[in-house]
Amino acid sequence: MCGIVGFVGHEEAAPILLEGLSRLEYRGYDSAGIAVYGQEDGLQVYKAKGRLKALCDLVDNGAAVHGTVGLGHTRWATHGQPSDLNSHPHVSQSGRIAVVHNGIIENYLTLRQRLQARGIHFVSETDTEVVAQLVDYYYKDDIMDAVVKALSQVEGSYALGILCIDCPDQIIAARKDGPLVLGYGDGCNFLASDVTAVIEHTRDVSYMEDGEIAVLTADSIKVYDSLLNPVEKEHFTVDWEISAAEKGGYEHFMIKEIMEQPDALRKCLFPRIKNHKVVLEDLSLDEEYIRSLHKIDIVACGSSYHVGMVSKYFLESLLRIPVEVSLASEFRYCDPIVDEHTLVIVISQSGETADTLAALRQAKKLGARTLGVVNVVGSSIAKECDDVLYTWAGPEIAVATTKAYSTQLGVLYLLGLHFADVLGRLSPDRYDTLVRQLLLLPSCLEQVLEQKENIQYLAFHYFNHESIFFIGRNIDYAMGLEGSLKLKEISYIHSEAYAAGELKHGTISLIEPGTLVVALATYGKLFDKTMSNIVEVKSRGADIIALTTEEHTAAMESQASGIILVPELDPMFMPSLAVVPLQLFAYYVALNRGCDIDKPRNLAKSVTVE
Ligand code: F6R
Repeated sequence: MCGIVGFVGHEEAAPILLEGLSRLEYRGYDSAGIAVYGQEDGLQVYKAKGRLKALCDLVDNGAAVHGTVGLGHTRWATHGQPSDLNSHPHVSQSGRIAVVHNGIIENYLTLRQRLQARGIHFVSETDTEVVAQLVDYYYKDDIMDAVVKALSQVEGSYALGILCIDCPDQIIAARKDGPLVLGYGDGCNFLASDVTAVIEHTRDVSYMEDGEIAVLTADSIKVYDSLLNPVEKEHFTVDWEISAAEKGGYEHFMIKEIMEQPDALRKCLFPRIKNHKVVLEDLSLDEEYIRSLHKIDIVACGSSYHVGMVSKYFLESLLRIPVEVSLASEFRYCDPIVDEHTLVIVISQSGETADTLAALRQAKKLGARTLGVVNVVGSSIAKECDDVLYTWAGPEIAVATTKAYSTQLGVLYLLGLHFADVLGRLSPDRYDTLVRQLLLLPSCLEQVLEQKENIQYLAFHYFNHESIFFIGRNIDYAMGLEGSLKLKEISYIHSEAYAAGELKHGTISLIEPGTLVVALATYGKLFDKTMSNIVEVKSRGADIIALTTEEHTAAMESQASGIILVPELDPMFMPSLAVVPLQLFAYYVALNRGCDIDKPRNLAKSVTVE
């Protein structure tokens, strides 16, 4: 939700912090701030409401701030509206302690009242200020002792960066349920919410675990557990290029990431297909366990949940095992029925989504086996699942997910084929056909992307509509959920996705002359049924954009004002192709409406609060 960056070294900290924040801005962008300690200037704190640019202007891109140790923060407000005052870093009353925080301190009101009763005056409405005041309250002459005491009082989630003016050559980091990466530089060290903020400077990183506290100086990073026993950290080398986290000539990250999808899928799929067989080397589930499965539960949020919705259709059809798909925010509170014969698959791009993480923990407690489908390496969900299959999509910066959706689906295809093979559910011919088609997906996606101009034209025609419906049946319906979410989140147009056969049970009353209906009709078996529903809305005045395959062009021409064609593959692979025009449509509609596409209002990329 929020982005944290920390630096300690021998160079000016402010420009490094601002550059790191610019890479983390996708995590929250309603205000930003830095705290830098300099030998001559002491602790300097600058904060500004609004985008990072406001802060950069305030500090002359860092030139106005001097010191070699500092913390930075970009905020997605939880407690207290976006304002200069509520922005981080927060400084204790005495001015000795500065804190940046990602997460929520759930008992902050109780702590605040206790501290107020002892005469401590608060200046912001945030939960974070409590941490700064509490550390200061416990601080006598040992900052680590004060941090440990303060954290023992705190309930909730946190990734923290702490700076104490009495120890001006170090920063302290602490983590519980919020990501924190340590970056090992040459004569300098880094702290960040995400590797994107440090790879300009170092590729040598480690990931903090819950309960750990780290002390960073220019020459070392020492990590301790919550009882202050030293911890030896495993180091990882980041193997992607910084250009992956840059726009590379595109106007927005979203369009860049849409266009990257064929390559992202290649990287996700091809290494896992050997001699025309799916080989999941990173999976420890043995064949006996797969054969003992009674049920698969897929748990996720937002677009990742939509991947689950699509997967249900093809997994049930391939495996003949019941698949339930749940929103993580519901699953965690609904007393789910799972046991050791249930495989719980959690899907998450960030690997840090609070609801998904909580659902995962609950599933484990109930005895289920868990498998994560995750993009961010070393993230909490990846670490806590019994097994993880990475999507290998590379960094996804745009808030609206695109390539992560596609690669998540890619992993579910692999998993489905692997399980079907183990269970002996497919004839050798059918297995071979599906694997061959899976290998074709990236090049078919390239063909879809070639229709960019057609979709751009349609978006230009319809961007002024105030309400847009997506209808389809079966796997088309599941895919429409994602098309609709993409559109509403970045263009702010009201939109609904409906199972086409369900319209007549209520929603069709919303159709009036000129309503735009995006009709998804790639599922050949039910084409005629979907067509009937298209005719029903058309006869009530709707304008139709149809997404279908070449075979159905003629039938569609009489009904639709716009047609988008996708190549035809087995029905289970169609959502992978068809979602791409929907992403492009949402993108171009939002572009025409002048929306802030990469950073839509009220949203943030990684949702680490409940
Ligand atoms: C929509 C979007 C969100 C995420 C959701 C889950 O474009 O990106 O709906 O899919 O917040 O996030 P992850 O996958 O990181 O758990």
